[in-house]
Amino acid sequence: MNRRDFVLRLPVISTGALLGASTLSLTACGGVAYLVPRGGDGEMAVAASEVPEGGALVQGPGMERPVYLRRDNEGEYVALLARCTHRGCQPDPVGDRLVCPCHGSEYDLAGSVLQGPAEEPLTRYPVRIQGNDVIVLIRGGVR
Ligand code: FES
Repeated sequence: MNRRDFVLRLPVISTGALLGASTLSLTACGGVAYLVPRGGDGEMAVAASEVPEGGALVQGPGMERPVYLRRDNEGEYVALLARCTHRGCQPDPVGDRLVCPCHGSEYDLAGSVLQGPAEEPLTRYPVRIQGNDVIVLIRGGVR
C-alpha cells in the first residue's frame, strides 16, 4: 500500500471499525467514491443507493486491491478487481476507462484491455441483487 492509498483509506477503515456493519462511503480527491462493504465469506454487500453513477471503489478489510463497482448502460452491475494484470498496480477510473498509473495500461469499463502492456482483462466478479443491496461474489472470480 502506498502513501496515497493509506491516507485515503485510514479514515474509512477506522470509522468502519467504530460503526460495525454499516456501509461507509468516502469520496477521494479524484472524485471516486470509496465504499467499505458489509459481509464476508466470499461475498461483500453495499447498498445500491450508495453506488454513484460513476461507480465506486469497494474495499473491505484484508483486500489488497478494491473492486470497481458500477452500473453499465443496461443497468447491470459490473464488478472488476482493480488490479492491473500487467504487474498488479491499481488502475484508476478515468472517464470511460480504467488507467494504470504504473506503465500506462488502459481497460474499458467491462475490464477488456484497450492499451498494453497488459494483455489480460481485469478479473470480473459475479454480482447479484438482494433486496436493496448489491452483492459481489468475490470468491472464485472469473476472467
Ligand atoms: Fe499496470 Fe504495468 S502494472 S501497466
